[in-house]
Amino acid sequence: MKDVTAIVMAAGQGTRLKSSLPKVLHEAAGRSLIGHVLEALRPLGLGRILVVVGADAQSVVDEVAALDVPKVDTVVQPHALGTADAVRVALPSLPHDTRRVLVLPGDGPLVTAEVLAQLCEHATGADVALLTSHLTEPHGYGRIVRNDDHGVMAIVEERDADSRQRLITEVNGGVYVFDRERLAEVIGTLSSDNAQGELYLTDAVSAIVSRSGTIAALTVPPEITAGVNDQVQLASAAQVLRQRHLTQLMRDNGVRVIDPATTYVDVDVAIGQGATLLPGTMLSAGTVVGDHATIGPYTQLVGCIVADGALVRATTATGATIGAQATVGPYAHLRQGTVLESNTKVGAYVEMKNTRMGRGAKAPHLAYLGDADIGEAANIACGVITVNYDGEVKSRTVIGQGAFIGCDTMLIAPVTIGDHAYTAAGSVITEDVPADALAIARARQVLKEGWVPARRHAGGTNGSP
Ligand code: UD1
Ligand code: CA
Repeated sequence: MKDVTAIVMAAGQGTRLKSSLPKVLHEAAGRSLIGHVLEALRPLGLGRILVVVGADAQSVVDEVAALDVPKVDTVVQPHALGTADAVRVALPSLPHDTRRVLVLPGDGPLVTAEVLAQLCEHATGADVALLTSHLTEPHGYGRIVRNDDHGVMAIVEERDADSRQRLITEVNGGVYVFDRERLAEVIGTLSSDNAQGELYLTDAVSAIVSRSGTIAALTVPPEITAGVNDQVQLASAAQVLRQRHLTQLMRDNGVRVIDPATTYVDVDVAIGQGATLLPGTMLSAGTVVGDHATIGPYTQLVGCIVADGALVRATTATGATIGAQATVGPYAHLRQGTVLESNTKVGAYVEMKNTRMGRGAKAPHLAYLGDADIGEAANIACGVITVNYDGEVKSRTVIGQGAFIGCDTMLIAPVTIGDHAYTAAGSVITEDVPADALAIARARQVLKEGWVPARRHAGGTNGSP
């Protein structure tokens, strides 16, 4: 489709979202609205994609660049005078060999590559083809006005519609394929004499009709054309996008999803064959889950890598790497830079940050492990803390392979525990421990025989023993 150029209208403010962020930068299912639209265009192999942005929308320009879809340029619309004006400012940037123009809104994240290809196909021989949907609740959309022969005559915006037109349930999806010549002929002839005082692209359709042009309409389900104008529509678009992604993961990869309604997987998350997602699982920011891993229930993974066969229960993790066959949780908190090698075990109430744990090492319960290197098969017992921060600088703790860190050990960093060394329970370790040594660093127990009756005899609980 080299002779087709897309114009994506993305210069509107989005005032109905009640947010300072430009509308098309709002996220749904882990991707910006403009990102969803450009991803739908990516596979079509169009000649060019022109994104129309507002005058002060550097953030939109940056996002478009970051999405890295080939053949995309941005065009500035100096004033948001309406959808027809957005298209008008883009027309001079069309490549010479463009014969048809695919126009779509930046706030329609649900449109798919398949439907866009179908619309282009449907447009063959027509001056303009457009997407429509039948809605039970058509409020806010332009209504499709058809003649007695069912041909499309015009599109009337909600605010300009009379009471009869408002009863029409067929709405304009805002996606069009125009013949380039026809579009160029009519775009300058439109007026802003309407309820919003804007130049409506919808009027280009009736202008083409009045010049005896041919109009083709392709009717698709509302889950394709739904736009995002407010937070309610943003949430429901995100739900549709997540649902589609989950369905694809179940169909293509055999991912087992116990309850899709309570499983939130963003579109940039990859999940391997035969993995299981339990209820309350939230996966985002490019998280990758390996084959046959089990995630959940109640687990949030942000930008994590989970290798094959790992089990991650009731855990919150950000920027963590979890090795093959590792078991994590319940109630673990893995922060940025946590790396668990294969067959490790991190249990209840363990917090980790910027720490690598070698193969087969374990911290089964209640520990804080920050800025540490933990050797293979080391055992971190209950209540161990790496004391990594002195109020000014962070320091590292190094624990050798096969070391045994006894319950309630404080490791005052920087400190190194040698391979296979032990620390006694309750120790405060301030000096390095050589390999194979036992370090005991705690006050010796004092025993006072008969102290309790002696105090009672002295007649009180206040006196010193
Ligand atoms: C538009 C259509 C309506 C259709 C609906 C489908 C018009 C006049 N109306 O209404 O028939 O049912 O989409 O979702 O076209 N934009 C610009 N520059 C502007 C104005 C808008 O780039 O000057 C962009 C917006 O950022 C947005 C898109 O164009 O991405 C559509 O504009 P919006 O104001 O959301 O139009 P709707 O009222 O939704
Ligand atoms: Ca809209």
